[in-house]
Amino acid sequence: MARVPAAVTAITDPSERELVQRAFEVSFKAYAPSSKFHVGAAVRTTKGTYVGCNVENGSYGLTSCAERNAVFAAITAEGGKTRIEAVAVYARSPGKKVKTASPCGACRQVLAEFGRHAVVTFLENGRFRSMTLDELLPAAFELY
Ligand code: THU
Repeated sequence: MARVPAAVTAITDPSERELVQRAFEVSFKAYAPSSKFHVGAAVRTTKGTYVGCNVENGSYGLTSCAERNAVFAAITAEGGKTRIEAVAVYARSPGKKVKTASPCGACRQVLAEFGRHAVVTFLENGRFRSMTLDELLPAAFELY
């Protein structure tokens, strides 16, 4: 397994650091022949932790983001009552320095459905930053 980057070891909160480390590890499973942008996500619920990576496709529009794949793994394991407490995202692009990678708008909407107040940790200018989903997606669409 590749060495954990300094930006990850610099995270002071141990549970946050552990979650980002899971995201880092799963980023190596990404299937990203088109973008070469390898993303890993880890979702901590009230009951466990689930991971996902981005999966691209030769039919480009079918790509599935790491965050949504992690959420779907959580729901698959725990069912629709799943509550998300924390999310971590890690992105790498071999040969390049990825400085910033926060969850896309579609993933924010999907995450919000299972944890509006969840803490999301992501790379911003080479450091990890945490924000709540409320902050990342104010006035989210809510049906339920
Ligand atoms: N991607 C994610 O996995 N998560 C995001 O929040 C944004 C983008 C993926 C999709 C695609 O495979 C690659 O990153 C470049 O957009």
